Amino acid sequence: MTGDMILMILLRWIHFVAGITWIGLLYFFNLVNANFLKSLDPAAKTVVIPKLMPAALAWFRWSALVTAAAGLIMLHFLAAGRGLFSSSWGIFIFTGGLLGLVMLFNVWVIIWPNQKQVIRMSIESAEKKQPAPKTMAIHARRAYLASRANFYLSFPMLFCMGAAAHFPLS
Ligand code: HEM
Repeated sequence: MTGDMILMILLRWIHFVAGITWIGLLYFFNLVNANFLKSLDPAAKTVVIPKLMPAALAWFRWSALVTAAAGLIMLHFLAAGRGLFSSSWGIFIFTGGLLGLVMLFNVWVIIWPNQKQVIRMSIESAEKKQPAPKTMAIHARRAYLASRANFYLSFPMLFCMGAAAHFPLS
Protein backbone atom coordinates (compact mmCIF):
# COMPACT_ATOMS: atom_id res chain seq x y z
CA MET A 1 0.00 0.00 0.00
CA THR A 2 1.46 3.34 -1.05
CA GLY A 3 1.39 6.60 0.96
CA ASP A 4 -1.17 8.04 -1.49
CA MET A 5 -3.53 5.11 -0.89
CA ILE A 6 -3.27 5.50 2.89
CA LEU A 7 -3.96 9.23 2.56
CA MET A 8 -7.07 8.57 0.42
CA ILE A 9 -8.41 5.98 2.85
CA LEU A 10 -7.90 8.36 5.78
CA LEU A 11 -9.59 11.20 3.87
CA ARG A 12 -12.57 9.00 2.91
CA TRP A 13 -12.93 7.87 6.53
CA ILE A 14 -12.77 11.46 7.85
CA HIS A 15 -15.23 12.43 5.10
CA PHE A 16 -17.94 10.00 6.02
CA VAL A 17 -17.49 10.15 9.82
CA ALA A 18 -17.89 13.95 9.59
CA GLY A 19 -20.68 13.46 7.01
CA ILE A 20 -22.61 11.17 9.38
CA THR A 21 -22.18 13.69 12.21
CA TRP A 22 -23.46 16.50 9.97
CA ILE A 23 -26.37 14.70 8.32
CA GLY A 24 -27.27 12.90 11.58
CA LEU A 25 -27.69 16.26 13.32
CA LEU A 26 -29.61 17.60 10.29
CA TYR A 27 -32.06 14.69 10.62
CA PHE A 28 -32.31 15.21 14.38
CA PHE A 29 -33.16 18.90 13.83
CA ASN A 30 -35.77 18.09 11.17
CA LEU A 31 -37.30 14.87 12.47
CA VAL A 32 -37.24 15.48 16.24
CA ASN A 33 -36.13 18.90 17.42
CA ALA A 34 -38.30 21.23 15.28
CA ASN A 35 -41.54 19.69 16.62
CA PHE A 36 -40.13 19.39 20.13
CA LEU A 37 -39.26 23.12 20.28
CA LYS A 38 -42.64 24.02 18.76
CA SER A 39 -44.39 22.08 21.54
CA LEU A 40 -42.69 24.13 24.32
CA ASP A 41 -44.28 27.22 25.82
CA PRO A 42 -42.35 30.49 25.25
CA ALA A 43 -40.77 30.52 28.74
CA ALA A 44 -39.52 26.93 28.38
CA LYS A 45 -38.09 27.76 24.96
CA THR A 46 -35.85 30.46 26.44
CA VAL A 47 -34.46 27.85 28.86
CA VAL A 48 -34.08 24.93 26.42
CA ILE A 49 -32.69 26.79 23.37
CA PRO A 50 -29.59 28.28 25.09
CA LYS A 51 -28.77 24.93 26.70
CA LEU A 52 -29.30 22.65 23.71
CA MET A 53 -28.63 24.60 20.54
CA PRO A 54 -25.10 26.08 20.91
CA ALA A 55 -23.41 22.67 21.23
CA ALA A 56 -25.66 20.98 18.65
CA LEU A 57 -25.05 23.78 16.14
CA ALA A 58 -21.28 23.82 16.79
CA TRP A 59 -20.99 20.10 15.93
CA PHE A 60 -23.37 20.68 13.01
CA ARG A 61 -21.53 23.50 11.26
CA TRP A 62 -17.96 22.30 11.89
CA SER A 63 -18.74 18.73 10.82
CA ALA A 64 -20.28 20.19 7.62
CA LEU A 65 -17.06 22.08 6.95
CA VAL A 66 -14.82 19.06 7.64
CA THR A 67 -17.01 16.87 5.37
CA ALA A 68 -16.81 19.33 2.47
CA ALA A 69 -13.07 20.01 2.98
CA ALA A 70 -12.20 16.29 2.98
CA GLY A 71 -14.51 15.77 -0.04
CA LEU A 72 -12.87 18.59 -2.00
CA ILE A 73 -9.34 17.35 -1.17
CA MET A 74 -10.32 13.84 -2.40
CA LEU A 75 -11.86 15.38 -5.50
CA HIS A 76 -8.66 17.29 -6.18
CA PHE A 77 -6.65 14.03 -6.27
CA LEU A 78 -9.24 11.78 -7.92
CA ALA A 79 -10.52 14.12 -10.62
CA ALA A 80 -6.94 14.77 -11.77
CA GLY A 81 -6.64 11.08 -12.65
CA ARG A 82 -10.14 10.43 -14.04
CA GLY A 83 -11.65 13.74 -15.15
CA LEU A 84 -15.00 14.93 -13.80
CA PHE A 85 -17.29 14.69 -16.82
CA SER A 86 -15.96 11.65 -18.65
CA SER A 87 -17.42 8.91 -16.43
CA SER A 88 -20.56 8.10 -14.46
CA TRP A 89 -18.36 8.39 -11.35
CA GLY A 90 -17.41 11.96 -12.22
CA ILE A 91 -20.95 13.03 -13.06
CA PHE A 92 -22.36 11.57 -9.83
CA ILE A 93 -19.59 13.04 -7.69
CA PHE A 94 -19.96 16.41 -9.39
CA THR A 95 -23.75 16.42 -8.83
CA GLY A 96 -23.52 15.11 -5.26
CA GLY A 97 -20.64 17.42 -4.40
CA LEU A 98 -22.49 20.44 -5.81
CA LEU A 99 -25.60 19.61 -3.77
CA GLY A 100 -23.34 19.16 -0.71
CA LEU A 101 -21.74 22.58 -1.30
CA VAL A 102 -25.18 24.23 -1.63
CA MET A 103 -26.07 22.60 1.70
CA LEU A 104 -22.81 23.84 3.25
CA PHE A 105 -23.68 27.37 2.06
CA ASN A 106 -27.12 27.08 3.70
CA VAL A 107 -25.51 25.95 6.97
CA TRP A 108 -22.98 28.78 7.24
CA VAL A 109 -24.78 31.66 5.50
CA ILE A 110 -28.44 31.13 6.49
CA ILE A 111 -28.92 28.59 9.29
CA TRP A 112 -26.08 29.54 11.64
CA PRO A 113 -26.39 33.39 11.52
CA ASN A 114 -30.16 33.15 12.09
CA GLN A 115 -29.83 30.55 14.85
CA LYS A 116 -27.19 32.75 16.50
CA GLN A 117 -29.82 35.50 16.77
CA VAL A 118 -32.39 33.03 18.14
CA ILE A 119 -29.92 31.89 20.83
CA ARG A 120 -28.93 35.49 21.70
CA MET A 121 -32.57 36.61 21.97
CA SER A 122 -33.48 33.56 24.09
CA ILE A 123 -30.63 34.26 26.51
CA GLU A 124 -31.55 37.95 26.77
CA SER A 125 -35.22 37.27 27.34
CA ALA A 126 -34.41 34.65 30.01
CA GLU A 127 -32.06 37.11 31.78
CA LYS A 128 -34.55 39.97 31.66
CA LYS A 129 -37.47 37.64 32.36
CA GLN A 130 -39.29 39.19 29.41
CA PRO A 131 -40.95 37.55 26.41
CA ALA A 132 -38.67 37.07 23.41
CA PRO A 133 -38.96 39.80 20.71
CA LYS A 134 -41.17 39.08 17.69
CA THR A 135 -38.15 39.15 15.37
CA MET A 136 -36.97 35.91 17.02
CA ALA A 137 -39.74 34.05 15.17
CA ILE A 138 -38.55 35.53 11.85
CA HIS A 139 -34.97 34.33 12.45
CA ALA A 140 -36.24 30.92 13.58
CA ARG A 141 -38.41 30.64 10.45
CA ARG A 142 -35.51 31.50 8.08
CA ALA A 143 -33.26 28.92 9.76
CA TYR A 144 -36.06 26.36 9.68
CA LEU A 145 -36.71 26.81 5.93
CA ALA A 146 -33.01 26.50 5.03
CA SER A 147 -32.73 23.45 7.27
CA ARG A 148 -35.83 21.88 5.63
CA ALA A 149 -34.30 22.57 2.19
CA ASN A 150 -31.10 20.82 3.31
CA PHE A 151 -33.14 17.89 4.63
CA TYR A 152 -34.68 17.37 1.16
CA LEU A 153 -31.41 18.03 -0.70
CA SER A 154 -29.64 15.41 1.43
CA PHE A 155 -31.53 12.57 -0.30
CA PRO A 156 -30.33 13.14 -3.88
CA MET A 157 -26.94 14.21 -2.50
CA LEU A 158 -26.48 10.92 -0.61
CA PHE A 159 -27.75 8.94 -3.60
CA CYS A 160 -25.12 10.52 -5.86
CA MET A 161 -22.35 10.12 -3.25
CA GLY A 162 -23.12 6.43 -2.73
CA ALA A 163 -23.77 5.64 -6.41
CA ALA A 164 -20.62 7.27 -7.79
CA ALA A 165 -18.11 4.48 -7.22
CA HIS A 166 -20.68 1.68 -7.74
CA PHE A 167 -22.70 2.72 -10.80
CA PRO A 168 -23.54 0.65 -12.78
CA LEU A 169 -21.99 -1.83 -10.35
CA SER A 170 -18.60 -0.49 -11.44
C1 HEM B 1 -20.03 18.64 0.83
C2 HEM B 1 -19.59 18.30 -0.34
C3 HEM B 1 -19.07 16.94 -0.68
C4 HEM B 1 -18.07 16.68 -1.59
C5 HEM B 1 -17.33 17.72 -2.43
C6 HEM B 1 -17.86 15.26 -1.61
C7 HEM B 1 -16.93 14.58 -2.39
C8 HEM B 1 -16.67 13.22 -2.36
C9 HEM B 1 -15.63 12.54 -3.11
C10 HEM B 1 -14.66 13.20 -4.07
C11 HEM B 1 -15.68 11.22 -2.80
C12 HEM B 1 -14.73 10.12 -3.29
C13 HEM B 1 -15.43 9.16 -4.23
C14 HEM B 1 -14.54 7.99 -4.63
O1 HEM B 1 -13.58 7.65 -3.92
O2 HEM B 1 -14.82 7.43 -5.67
C15 HEM B 1 -16.77 11.05 -1.85
C16 HEM B 1 -17.15 9.83 -1.31
C17 HEM B 1 -18.08 9.65 -0.34
N1 HEM B 1 -18.87 10.63 0.21
FE1 HEM B 1 -18.85 12.64 -0.28
N2 HEM B 1 -18.73 14.66 -0.70
C18 HEM B 1 -19.48 15.64 -0.11
C19 HEM B 1 -20.46 15.44 0.88
C20 HEM B 1 -20.77 14.22 1.48
C21 HEM B 1 -21.70 14.05 2.57
C22 HEM B 1 -22.48 15.17 3.27
C23 HEM B 1 -21.74 12.73 2.88
C24 HEM B 1 -22.58 12.14 3.96
C25 HEM B 1 -22.27 11.14 4.69
C26 HEM B 1 -20.83 12.05 1.97
C27 HEM B 1 -20.59 10.68 1.96
C28 HEM B 1 -19.69 10.04 1.17
C29 HEM B 1 -19.38 8.61 1.21
C30 HEM B 1 -20.04 7.56 2.12
C31 HEM B 1 -18.39 8.36 0.27
C32 HEM B 1 -17.73 7.00 -0.07
C33 HEM B 1 -18.41 6.48 -1.30
C34 HEM B 1 -17.70 5.24 -1.86
O3 HEM B 1 -16.47 5.16 -1.75
O4 HEM B 1 -18.40 4.41 -2.41
N3 HEM B 1 -20.26 12.99 1.14
N4 HEM B 1 -17.35 12.28 -1.59
